[in-house]
Amino acid sequence: MTRDSETSLKTRKKLHIQTWGCQMNVYDSQRMEGLLRPLGYEVSDSPEGADLVILNTCHIREKAAEKVYSALGRLKKMKDAKEQQGGQMRIAVAGCVAQAEGAEITARAPQVDLVFGPQSYHKLPEMIALAARQKGDILETEFEVEDKFDVLAKDRKVEGYSAFVTIQEGCDKFCTFCVVPYTRGAEVSRSVDSITGEIRALVAQGVREVTLLGQNVNAYHGQSPAGSGSETFGLGALLRHLAKIDGLDRLRFTTSHPRDMDEDLISAFGEEEKLMPYLHLPVQSGSDKILKAMNRGHKAEDYLRLIEKIRAARSDIALSGDFIVGFPGETQADFEETMALIRESQYASAFSFKYSRRPGTPGAVMAKQVAEDEKDARLQALQGLLEEQKHAFNAGCVGKVLPVLLESKGRIDGQLNGRSPYLQGVHLAAKDHLLGQIVPVRILATKTNSLTGQLVSGYGQSDGVGHTEVGQGFEGGQGVRS
Ligand code: SAH
Ligand code: SF4
Ligand code: F3S
Repeated sequence: MTRDSETSLKTRKKLHIQTWGCQMNVYDSQRMEGLLRPLGYEVSDSPEGADLVILNTCHIREKAAEKVYSALGRLKKMKDAKEQQGGQMRIAVAGCVAQAEGAEITARAPQVDLVFGPQSYHKLPEMIALAARQKGDILETEFEVEDKFDVLAKDRKVEGYSAFVTIQEGCDKFCTFCVVPYTRGAEVSRSVDSITGEIRALVAQGVREVTLLGQNVNAYHGQSPAGSGSETFGLGALLRHLAKIDGLDRLRFTTSHPRDMDEDLISAFGEEEKLMPYLHLPVQSGSDKILKAMNRGHKAEDYLRLIEKIRAARSDIALSGDFIVGFPGETQADFEETMALIRESQYASAFSFKYSRRPGTPGAVMAKQVAEDEKDARLQALQGLLEEQKHAFNAGCVGKVLPVLLESKGRIDGQLNGRSPYLQGVHLAAKDHLLGQIVPVRILATKTNSLTGQLVSGYGQSDGVGHTEVGQGFEGGQGVRS
């Protein structure tokens, strides 16, 4: 009996997953859906009436756990209502809050049936079977030696043309503000063969762009393919290897740490056309004193020189970053150094946060915590500057022709949405048959968070036949070099 016919014999069950946090959680949620589909679970957008609800949680900022408990309060009402009608709703808490709080969750919220961390979700089918047989809660928050990725089925089902693939997990850096090393454990990398297998299968389903994910993606050092002449591949070697996959047109990776940006990776930006000219390289602060207190392991000057080298390899690169304002001990002068670093680096996009005390991290107990109103004022000034830079970057694209991967239908009929090489959202009038293609788009204007453009004249106006698609070799690859 095939898996499909086996599934059709089972009763259909409704699954709802709510995902918070980073892209690695998004990836994990997709893999959980994939694991549960053969058991008859169908994904639903709403928790109402669901047989299984999974909260895939994030612990990066304050109040993260509170958000989870208030969601659990709402779910309890739905669970009670379903039980009164003779039905059943199982509730699971997954992700980084599950890892950090473990058994406290079931103690505080008895409506929860399962709690499991990011390293245990491949055991979900077993855990559900166990929950059906036994009374009481199930808790799985051990870090296992067993490779989760070996257990997860290789045949991952995806919709769309762009997909995330986790290649590295965990973090050994221990920045003094961050919970990730505690919730995701030590750094581990998947083997090159395992990643290649997953990506080939995605490409066979129509995926054209892959974003490689890791908490410290450029610390990647995975087992190399047999006969390659080296024991492990770094991220540069992995990208060059993946770029050989026919049908895969675009590669991206996130998030990188400045300390792990090696020469091979930097030169890949200049050499690999499929590697998109976009780099998320958080620096957090421009003050050496604060960088030291954060345990970032480099100085502001090292970061600036690194950006110079990267721009020498790929002049049009869209630089992105993360910033924290109000780390303990940050004075106005330290903050001004961050503003100076931003002025020198020139960002195309960025994320910025007020420092938030995370219990268990060294930063939480440091002296000289910064007052909330001070943090607010600094964040506002910093975001103002980053917004200006984003607009300047976007405005610089107006008039240019960019290759855009058309990913989805727009809100207005006859409109499609896509992404430029620089990860900007682009809206344009185009026919549906162009979905999934990389097309030349002349950029006409910038909006707050996206660009509008039009197809280069004569392109794709017919009904799907007789045009050449834009791929490599287009205005200097898939970007526009200045
Ligand atoms: N591994 C990545 C970041 C992962 S967390 C790196 O090293 O850059 C994503 C971002 O959340 C961080 O870059 C940081 O800017 C922010 N962040 C993490 N912990 C924080 C905290 N306690 N308070 C405020 N922002 C925080
Ligand atoms: Fe957190 Fe630092 Fe690790 Fe990034 S490098 S995940 S900020 S500890
Ligand atoms: Fe949040 Fe965990 Fe990601 S804490 S940012 S979901 S690694």
